[in-house]
Amino acid sequence: MRLKGKVAIVTGGGGGIGYAICKAFASEGAKVVVSDIDPGKCEEHATVLRDAGHEATAVAADVSCESSADRLVAATLSAYGSVDILVNNAGARIIKGLMEHSVADWEKMIAINLTGPFLCARAAIPHMVAKRSGNIINVGSIASFAGRPNRVAYVAAKSGVLGLTRAMAADLAGRNVRVNTIAPGMIASPFNKSFAESPETGEAWAGENLIGRWGQPEDIAGAAVYLASDDSSFVTGSEIKIEGGWLAARSRAGEIPIWPD
Ligand SMILES: NC(=O)c1ccc[n+]([C@@H]2O[C@H](COP(=O)([O-])OP(=O)(O)OC[C@H]3O[C@@H](n4cnc5c(N)ncnc54)[C@H](O)[C@@H]3O)[C@@H](O)[C@H]2O)c1
Repeated sequence: MRLKGKVAIVTGGGGGIGYAICKAFASEGAKVVVSDIDPGKCEEHATVLRDAGHEATAVAADVSCESSADRLVAATLSAYGSVDILVNNAGARIIKGLMEHSVADWEKMIAINLTGPFLCARAAIPHMVAKRSGNIINVGSIASFAGRPNRVAYVAAKSGVLGLTRAMAADLAGRNVRVNTIAPGMIASPFNKSFAESPETGEAWAGENLIGRWGQPEDIAGAAVYLASDDSSFVTGSEIKIEGGWLAARSRAGEIPIWPD
């Protein structure tokens, strides 16, 4: 068990990737705080984990709100007396044209996807530093590395997650608190359900990466366990891309690898 006795907060734990991370952490012996803005979804997931014999608590929180992020960490400390791992996974995306983005859209995307990880980390860091042990994982995206049309605010926020990770890792130098980013590609979670199931985009988007399928939330959970555990004790300020090679190579239309029959 690689996370035995560790206390982990997972934001967005009511969603696809967050829940997969909660399950993987619990299986590795962590006590898991399943957090989400949706109280019903995080309670449901915490209940399933408890019914399976794991230690888990639901704490509803809006990561974009300073007092809510502070309350999330306070509730974790009162439930389990520590916060060892924070996964800043909560996220949301607005898809509309550049000129259709209102200031409110822009601010919402930055608040949830970039300010949220900062607020949750800032609430947890004093406890991690006092303990001289901690681990923060920020969930970015392929949009942290590549522009995509109709997602201007989301792409800007997710790009910022890389800088936030690096800057926090630098600020935490020498304190045994590591900070890293996981950058998922196309994952068939509720976030992308409509695209994964659509006849127009389901197969076509799967074919865009080098593995040739949609990723599953479990594909992300394994990397989260690695980054949260001592297996990655020399890794900080870094990022792991889990996107089937989507960022590694592009084909032109009709250009397929030539192989003997
Ligand atoms: N699914 C993908 O293809 C994909 C690709 C790249 C990056 N990501 C990132 O992965 C993370 C998880 O996404 P997912 O695929 O599991 O999506 P999801 O929609 O299944 O889950 C996201 C969760 O975040 C919660 N949330 C939204 N706003 C919140 C807020 N203000 N405070 C707290 N919780 C909030 C939602 O209620 C939801 O349960 C997100 O950061 C997303 O941007 C996903």
